Amino acid sequence: MNLTELNRIATAMVAPGKGILAADESSGTIKKRFDAIGVESTEENRRDYREMLFRSKDAMSQYISGVILYDETIWQDAKDGTPLVKLIEQSGAIPGIKVDEGTQALPMCPGELVTVGLDKLAERLKKYYERGARFAKWRAVIDIGGGIPSMTAISVNAHALARYAALCQAAQIVPIVEPEVLMDGDHDIERCYEVTSRVLSKTFQELRVQRVALEGMVLKPNMAISGKKCAKQAPVEEVAEKTIRLLKACVPAAVPGIAFLSGGQSDEEATAHLNAMHKLGPLPWGLTFSYGRALQAAPQKAWSGKAENVAAGQRAFSHRAQMNGLASKGEWQSSLEKKAA
Ligand code: 13P
Repeated sequence: MNLTELNRIATAMVAPGKGILAADESSGTIKKRFDAIGVESTEENRRDYREMLFRSKDAMSQYISGVILYDETIWQDAKDGTPLVKLIEQSGAIPGIKVDEGTQALPMCPGELVTVGLDKLAERLKKYYERGARFAKWRAVIDIGGGIPSMTAISVNAHALARYAALCQAAQIVPIVEPEVLMDGDHDIERCYEVTSRVLSKTFQELRVQRVALEGMVLKPNMAISGKKCAKQAPVEEVAEKTIRLLKACVPAAVPGIAFLSGGQSDEEATAHLNAMHKLGPLPWGLTFSYGRALQAAPQKAWSGKAENVAAGQRAFSHRAQMNGLASKGEWQSSLEKKAA
């Protein structure tokens, strides 16, 4: 393992003004997104859609540090035969790959999930590296509800995340460690804070036990935020203040960067929250976005599967990428949104 190189890549992934495009929706998830815009989820449509994003020159070169791909996409070529990985590299961004194989029910723990995909992971990482991937992602899912999460679910998911991270570093790939506490329930921000704190603490404990080099990884957490169905929604400043307090308590300064998931926040909320956190600096790590939905909802709608809408889709993507790029430096203002509308 060359830790200097892993650290260089991890640092580039969270460079100020830039963040990560999570375009690694599984076939099931992208079908849901395409259903919402009335587009059939064929291999060709998925390729055309993602090619549109990766060819958005302004967004990719100025605001996107890396792209997380799904297995299908990393092996796909653009319409003109150029591998999609090459398009990403040519824009100056780093290709990455989602390597977990989704979730399964966790035995003895009703309603809870464990992420799978460790079998043969070492072999798969080698092939992904040869194809150009320099970082990877593994997402654990923790739900909040009556009596959950259990310590069992937190513990087995943290263990798997650390196993994955160690295998990545041995393969000279930067692991994005993503323990996502879902925002789907009716819990308040305090409960989210408390659960996320337990999850992050356990995750870093496992990372240490399994000898993962913190200098060569990126953390992808949820924010401390009210559940979507909670009657009392915490305002932007409270989300920012609590999230930074939580991360300072749980994430060692040796970690080069933190890149948030959007998790179902609206586009503008996700941007406003990241921006507000940067007003609370200086921070010990790079802090940016690794958004899926909050970067892609607008371009998906603008594109709607029609070749004549590619330019509009790229404009919508560039706008969101720029807004989040500004937020990653604390330079975003809501008035910039209205100007583009
Ligand atoms: P969202 O930003 O849509 O939550 O997706 C990010 C991601 O990569 C989840 O694993």
